[in-house]
Amino acid sequence: MTRYLLLLGFISAGLLSTGCARKTLSEPAPKAGAYGSALVESSGGKQVAAVGTILPQPVVVQVNDQQGNAVPGAPVAFSGPAGVTLDPVSGVTDSSGQFATNVSLGEMAGRYQITAKTVNKAQKRVELKLEEIALGYQQVLGWQLNDQYCDRCHNSESTPERVSNYDNLEVKPHPFGEGGTLNKMGDSELTAIINHGGPALNKSPLMPPYGYTLSKTEIQALISYIRAISDPPYKTPGLVYAKN
Ligand code: HEC
Repeated sequence: MTRYLLLLGFISAGLLSTGCARKTLSEPAPKAGAYGSALVESSGGKQVAAVGTILPQPVVVQVNDQQGNAVPGAPVAFSGPAGVTLDPVSGVTDSSGQFATNVSLGEMAGRYQITAKTVNKAQKRVELKLEEIALGYQQVLGWQLNDQYCDRCHNSESTPERVSNYDNLEVKPHPFGEGGTLNKMGDSELTAIINHGGPALNKSPLMPPYGYTLSKTEIQALISYIRAISDPPYKTPGLVYAKN
């Protein structure tokens, strides 16, 4: 049944792509015999965006054969939970065996699982799951504050706009996504170190105090952002109650 649906998806995708203005007329139907045995992520997993907005980078997956070689012309279909839009939702891998889709996340903050599928020679479904994160209003505020104040030390990667200070620091801060460390710190500990700096938790004074610069609301927004992006996910102590 699911195999049938998948096939239907490919067929309708073929029909749709003929009518799509961006594409040339000779656009791809799956190539006969173009089957992969694995689906791998090329790029675009674990991105962060505000709720209801499009992810900064497309999600790109690659179909490989048993030897790990890219397979051009193989069918790929994406799916996601309610509220997610995928453009295009399905199609065929290009000459480098890749297929890309633009993802826009739903209106609810949280984690969204995107699934990519292809079929192998035996017509069995091969799947790859990717996770993306949608930030709510408060978390977006925290994200912006992080860009402004924290990222230069807590993110080891430099960008054209921001040179990272990470390599200069004798004591290395953790990237905020590192749930292994940050999930063990309670909200009150995070508040204390952000307010009063490293020494508040017997840590390095290289972590400056922000209590004079940032309001209570802003510090809460930062914590909310840190919790939202943590990997593995942060489990709110009060979740039991929140479920009902
Ligand atoms: C000038 C560099 C610098 C900046 C800017 C900075 N930090 Fe830090 N931060 C550090 C260092 C160094 C540590 C590690 C201290 C230790 O482990 O002894 C740290 C530690 C932390 C920790 C404890 C977890 C960890 O990474 O070890 C938190 C939470 C934290 N910082 C939050 C923030 C927030 C929020 C901001 C922005 C408002 C910020 N930091 C800005 C340098 C910085």
